[in-house]
Amino acid sequence: MSAIGLFDSGVGGLSVLRRLLQAMPGRDYRYFADSFHMPYGSRSTENIENIVMAICDFLIGQGCKAIVMACNTSSALALAKVRGRYDIPIIGVLEPGARAAVNATRNGKIGVMATEGTVRSGAYLRAVHWLRTDCIVYSQPCPKLAPLVERGHFGGSEVMSALTEYVPPLLAQGVDTIVMGCTHYPFLYEAIAKLLPPGVCIVDPALETVSEVMAILGATPLAGATNLSFYASGSVEDFMRVGRGLIGVVPNAQKVYFREHPTGLTVELE
Ligand code: DGL
Repeated sequence: MSAIGLFDSGVGGLSVLRRLLQAMPGRDYRYFADSFHMPYGSRSTENIENIVMAICDFLIGQGCKAIVMACNTSSALALAKVRGRYDIPIIGVLEPGARAAVNATRNGKIGVMATEGTVRSGAYLRAVHWLRTDCIVYSQPCPKLAPLVERGHFGGSEVMSALTEYVPPLLAQGVDTIVMGCTHYPFLYEAIAKLLPPGVCIVDPALETVSEVMAILGATPLAGATNLSFYASGSVEDFMRVGRGLIGVVPNAQKVYFREHPTGLTVELE
């Protein structure tokens, strides 16, 4: 059976994988944690495109017939280029996130918490305006959050002090909807919710992303066992330790390396 590939700069994309496992069990999932290049949020578009193409080449080589970019920064900076290069479905999380936000907002004011790269790209603004031109999007770069999640911090003083810097400026704009526009942030859901007044809705793009995956790949439940494979470009031990805390099941990850060739970047198994 054909596998579904997912990737992110680390554990963040597990927030998408957990939703896929709930909605579409019985499939073969291959998750690539690129913690070697974490954080993606401060990298250039060209750099992200090269990294993402190397990961997609690798996942396709491992039998993936569809790839979910479980990363907003990649979806913002590299989705168009990557879609043009492969003839398999490549599904991003950003357009689904924008759709969910437009459906959720009542006053048309949407806040987006995201990495610096995603904010700089203006991709959420474009995706929201494509759906509804009268919405106003306020974006807040949150560079401290993904590295904290990567280290296994989901609450506590460091997380709360970073959130106290990032959330109030969005609330001051009168937003009634906040998009967790980085796949690491759903793991901070409870911490974020503590800072929101009643009536402000939090959007996790993963849910709408799963609907899109089901629409493209078919929603028929499969009877077989779910297969999970993990690859990690950084510390395999750290990925598995934090990953297990987040989604419970993380079978042994395989170590992968990026190699620079005259023809470009590739990923190789140990
Ligand atoms: N989880 C990623 C995203 O959705 C990337 C975080 C990072 O590496 O900066 O944007």
